[in-house]
Amino acid sequence: MKRTFSGIKPTGHLTLGNYLGAVRQWAEVDQHRSDALFSVVDLHALTVEHDPARVRRLSRQAATLLLAAGLDPERCTVFVQSHVDEHARLSYLLECTATDGEMRRMIQYKEKGARARAAGESVRLSLLTYPVLMAADILAYATDEVPVGDDQAQHVELTRDLAVRFNQRYGHVFTVPKATHPRVAARVMDLQDPTSKMGKSAEGGAGVVYLLDDADTIRRKIMRAVTDSGQDVVHDRETRPGVANLLEILSACENGNPEALAGVYESYGALKKDTAEAVVELLRPLRERHAELAADPAYVDEVLRAGAARARGLARPLVDRAYRAIGLLPAG
Ligand code: TYM
Repeated sequence: MKRTFSGIKPTGHLTLGNYLGAVRQWAEVDQHRSDALFSVVDLHALTVEHDPARVRRLSRQAATLLLAAGLDPERCTVFVQSHVDEHARLSYLLECTATDGEMRRMIQYKEKGARARAAGESVRLSLLTYPVLMAADILAYATDEVPVGDDQAQHVELTRDLAVRFNQRYGHVFTVPKATHPRVAARVMDLQDPTSKMGKSAEGGAGVVYLLDDADTIRRKIMRAVTDSGQDVVHDRETRPGVANLLEILSACENGNPEALAGVYESYGALKKDTAEAVVELLRPLRERHAELAADPAYVDEVLRAGAARARGLARPLVDRAYRAIGLLPAG
């Protein structure tokens, strides 16, 4: 059976972008047709300024939301990255496979690094090496497919390059994975600034729908979404990014197609109203299930414990093989 791995970083509350771009596919498709592992990748949350108590809280919340979104521990493995030492162990070997030039070319490093410098903050070394840890997350499980939003495509490409390079130099150890993306909404944009991605850590959050927002908050945010000049409803990401974003969100909710939907609407107002209702209905069951699960932290803990045990069992022999292949003396 094919192996799937993907992860989510507990750096903020999960968003509609996370759900439509990744988590929904994990729940509706990947866990049913592959041996799938999904991880709350908490080590990645330490690459930028962080508050320890908040990271801990958000890690638990992200795990609870993944279960609320339909990940079924009977069908897939859900765990927290830092519970499995193999990620950090393998990351170092991959640091010895990658080059600093490759790291500096990563778009997310350039963007986040520039933002931190502009704010007068120092840039953690781990922000530069982050994609190597991500490659380790993926390669430790002999992963075939990595279901992610568009923004992670470059990181998965790097992962492929590192796997191929390692295999060529030291013998075949790693499966070369490929990214998969949803048909629509692979890049949900901020409702207030439709030229940038809807992200967990956006300032203020007026343009971001969080999975735990209540129905009225969701309606307000979508009704206040920035639309474009012009009146006709067309799907064109270049010239009408605001409207295109709403059409993509609505078609993701209805399993439709943004071009076809554009023909149905005569005003931005009607499009916003239907999009708001569709998102409210899409997220309602998730929010309800989250409330039930949040009341039972012992259950969530047990899922994470069992998930980490299984993940460890899969990763350990593979990472041991990589240690031997690269020339390290076995511990005996
Ligand atoms: P993260 O935590 O930023 O996002 C988790 C997933 O959500 C997708 N996503 C989006 N999709 C569509 N529109 C958006 N606005 C949007 N925002 C986020 C992301 O593409 C991602 O699939 N580096 C990763 C975490 C990671 C990982 C891994 C992923 C670490 N190790 C190994 C896969 C495999 C990240 O920062 O995702």
